[in-house]
Parts: sequence; C-alpha cells; structure tokens
Amino acid sequence: MGIEMKILVTGGAGYIGSHTCVELINAGHEVVIVDNLCNSNIESVKRIREITGKDIEFNEADISDREKMEKIFCNNNFDAVIHFAGLKAVGESCEKPLEYFINNISGTLVMLDIMKKYNVKNIVFSSSATVYGTPKTVPIKEDFPLSVTNPYGRTKLMLEEILQDIYKADNQWNVTLLRYFNPIGAHKSGKIGEDPNGIPNNLLPYITKVAIGELPILNVFANDYPTEDGTCIRDYIHVVDLADGHVKAIESIKDNSGVRIYNLGTGNGYSVLEVIKNFEKASGKQIPFQIADRRAGDVAVCYADSSLAKKELGWEAKYGIEEMCRDSWNWQVNNPKGYGV
Ligand code: NAD
Ligand code: UFG
Repeated sequence: MGIEMKILVTGGAGYIGSHTCVELINAGHEVVIVDNLCNSNIESVKRIREITGKDIEFNEADISDREKMEKIFCNNNFDAVIHFAGLKAVGESCEKPLEYFINNISGTLVMLDIMKKYNVKNIVFSSSATVYGTPKTVPIKEDFPLSVTNPYGRTKLMLEEILQDIYKADNQWNVTLLRYFNPIGAHKSGKIGEDPNGIPNNLLPYITKVAIGELPILNVFANDYPTEDGTCIRDYIHVVDLADGHVKAIESIKDNSGVRIYNLGTGNGYSVLEVIKNFEKASGKQIPFQIADRRAGDVAVCYADSSLAKKELGWEAKYGIEEMCRDSWNWQVNNPKGYGV
C-alpha cells in the first residue's frame, strides 16, 4: 500500500476507465492510457488532465494491435494493467457475436501475450455481475454458480476462465477479477461522465436524456416482476466508488499473489420506480414514464454481497442513490451533448 505504481489502463478514455484514472492519479500512481476510441472521445482524456492537473500519456491503439502495444510496453516499465477495454452492449452482442468475441477475447489474448513477454504479470480485469446469470438467491456472493445468457456475458466468463488458467500455469501472475454491479453517477466536477452513443440502453443515461428533454418518455420494462412495486431491482453503484475499488485492488495486488474475485456493489437494491423517484428529487425534474413489456434477458432482482471486498481490500461504497442521481444529473446538465460529438 502507498507505493506508487505505473499502470497501463486499457479503455481508459471510457466511462469507468476515465473515473479510475482520476482516482489512481489522486492516489499518487502514474497512468498510461491505451484506447482505440471506438466508444469514447479524446475529450475525456483532456478532462482527466484538467481534473488532475497531470499530463497523462495517451495512446490511440487497439489492444489487438501487437506492434503498437509492444511499443507501449517497450517504452514503459509497467507494474500492472487495469483492463477495461471491451465492447459492452448486451443487445448488440446478440446481433454481432463474432465482433464481440474478436474484440473482447482475441484483443485480450494479444495483450496478455505481450504482458507475458514484458514480464508484467499483474492484472485487474473488468468483469460483470452478468456472469451470475439468473441468481437463485440474493445478495449474490462470489462463489455463486456462474452462467451466461448472451455473447457479451460469455466474453466476460471466458476471460475470467482464461485468466485463471494462465495463473494455474504460472503462479507469478496476479489476477484480480472485479465483478461490477450497475455503475451510474459521474465525477463531482461534472467534467467526466457516461456518454453513450445514440439512444442509451441503460436506465440512468436514458433518464437523464428524458430529464433534459432529448427523449420524450422513459419506458419502464414491465411492472409484473416478483418485487414490491413489480419493477426490477438492481444494485446501483457510484462510478467513483467503483473507481476507488480499482485503486484498492491494484494496491493490494502485489501483496497477494493468485486469483482473487470481488463483487463491487453497494449491497442495496433499488427498483426502477425508486430510481426514478430519487432522480426526480435530485434533479427537480419530472420524468414521464410508461410501463412497457419486459425486456428479454432481464433478471428480477440482482444485488451484491460485497463483504469480501470490504474484508480483503478495505473497500466499501461510500455514496448512496441520492448522490448517484445528483452526479448523473450534474454531468448531463454541464454537458448536454456529452463530450460534444
Ligand atoms: P466504455 O465503453 O465507456 O469503455 C470501454 C473503453 O474501451 C472505450 O473507451 C472503448 O473505446 C475502449 N475499447 C473497446 N475495445 C477496445 C479495443 N479493442 N482496443 C482499445 N480500446 C478499446 O465502457 P465502461 O462502462 O467504461 O466499461 C468498462 C469495462 O467495464 C468494460 O469491459 C465493460 O464490459 C465492463 N463493465 C461495464 C459495466 C457497465 O454497466 N458500464 C458493467 C459491468 C462491466
Ligand atoms: N430499464 C428500464 N428502461 C430502460 C432501461 C432500463 O426500465 O429504458 C430497467 C431494466 O429493465 C432493468 C434496470 O432498468 O431492470 C437496469 O437496466 P440497465 O440496462 O441500466 O442495467 P442492467 O442491469 O440490465 O445491465 C447492466 C449492464 C450490463 C451488465 C449487467 C449486469 O448494462 O452490461 O448490468 O452487471 F451485464
């Protein structure tokens, strides 16, 4: 703990990556970003520089571009990699499975091979609560059975397994798999946040677009689930808390060799209607909504038991749903066009 590290952040221009870069820099670490900008904007890197006052190295490259990646590893003496780069839309992954397997899996394999060559064997990987499929009970613990229902989820599960195999073959590797629940919110400065392309798939970005008048009405995907108000329950977590989880994970990675797996959630579940109410309160805006059909693949209730991360990493979420809604709204109001494209 407390030792400054040089960290390669893949996908560092993206939503969670950009927030994590800020927290890593605030904690005294040096960050190098690699991102092909397929789902992000170079403006986010400028904003990270603005927030932190540090001139971060940015490399526009695909993680599967061996030549460019080798150059980056050759020029830097990395202690660890935090690996966010990947495609993440569940629906799109069903339409374009190959694209997801090539980008997420092949890309990661190339990168891991280069890590091995340059003897960088510490990695924190972005996994997802999606690997739990439809959980039989909640809260979800790390040792629950795993299953997936779509190609996106399969890329996460396969990469988890691949990383475990790599460790089994070479115990010098340190692998931390972080299973995120539902990240929302934004940095309190309002300078970085989530900037999805086109019409958002996820609840919070959709709500903020309705609040700002860009979309007319929110469709609530059904109210006939076995929950109190009939709408689905999720474990929303502030993206800055999530970012802090990565700082804690990377700082402990060298102490404990092996494979470690942590849920990053708050442990609290909120229904879609509760999120709408909290957002209305935080923003002072009314969110018109209508009840629509169920969305294929949605599970009724999903929230984390994150006590392992608390015990082993000393991490727990600090922010509540009010702050998450407030900061999502603050980002939207300050950046009505996101990063401007
Ligand atoms: P994001 O799309 O904002 O960030 C991902 C970044 O990776 C983007 O900047 C994109 O341009 C980059 N990228 C994608 N493929 C690349 C490649 N081949 N080479 C280089 N760069 C590439 O997404 P996010 O929400 O910040 O998610 C980060 C990670 O966390 C992803 O792996 C995602 O699957 C995972 N995750 C996200 C959520 C969520 O709800 N946001 C939940 C669970 C897990
Ligand atoms: N929802 C609506 N209307 C919308 C969008 C969402 O009612 O317009 C509802 C969904 O039905 C769900 C809840 O809001 O009940 C949350 O939906 P999101 O799409 O925001 O999040 P998910 O829980 O479906 O998915 C997220 C990530 C996935 C990840 C999964 C599990 O987007 O990448 O969590 O970790 F796989």
